[in-house]
Amino acid sequence: MQSEGWWNAPIAHAARFANRLLRSLTDMTVRPAEPSHRAELLRLRRALWPDCSEEMHAREMANYFTDGSGQTIFVVARPSGSLAGFAEFSVRDRVDGSFSNRVAYLEGWFVEADLRGSGWGRRLVEAGERWARAQGLTELASDTELDNVAGQRAHVALGFRETFRQVHFLKPLN
Ligand SMILES: CC(C)(COP(=O)(O)OP(=O)(O)OC[C@H]1O[C@@H](n2cnc3c(N)ncnc32)[C@H](O)[C@@H]1OP(=O)(O)O)[C@@H](O)C(=O)NCCC(=O)NCCS
Repeated sequence: MQSEGWWNAPIAHAARFANRLLRSLTDMTVRPAEPSHRAELLRLRRALWPDCSEEMHAREMANYFTDGSGQTIFVVARPSGSLAGFAEFSVRDRVDGSFSNRVAYLEGWFVEADLRGSGWGRRLVEAGERWARAQGLTELASDTELDNVAGQRAHVALGFRETFRQVHFLKPLN
């Protein structure tokens, strides 16, 4: 009896761990963001855009939660209520390389490191694609930084094709 117990214990422990992991993965959902997600969204936005000012985060998030803004956010919600990822979508009037005048745009896309590679990024983008199609839009555009090679590969895996590499400029007009 004793010998059966000592070597079974690590196996039972691993099985419990695998079960918990499976349960947490299957209990997670992709859903539209709600105002109650603001604090969690801000935490994830800070991780994706560490250089973005608090004022800009607040302004942009307020826009997403304004009715009729034409923008939306989908989130990956953990069973605990915390968020594990998000994707923000807007509609832009003109996108270089696009065929249509109004184009859905993936403005931000983030999944926490412990869940990457499990399909949550894809599910977030698919939710945005359904949202865009429902408005009659036929194209989805996006961008990543030049050195974000992993982000570029993930885009290509989801069916995006690279259009242009650009350097953006801005000049204040006083
Ligand atoms: C980009 C990101 C959101 C993808 O999320 P994810 O949950 O890992 O994505 P998925 O697991 O759904 O993978 C989607 C596809 O991309 C591919 N992919 C994801 N990461 C990849 C990588 N580093 N290299 C190559 N392909 C990758 C996957 O293989 C998958 O393709 P498949 O379904 O044909 O196998 C996530 O890696 C992330 O948050 N990165 C940091 C932020 C970032 O760079 N965002 C994008 C620019 S704003």
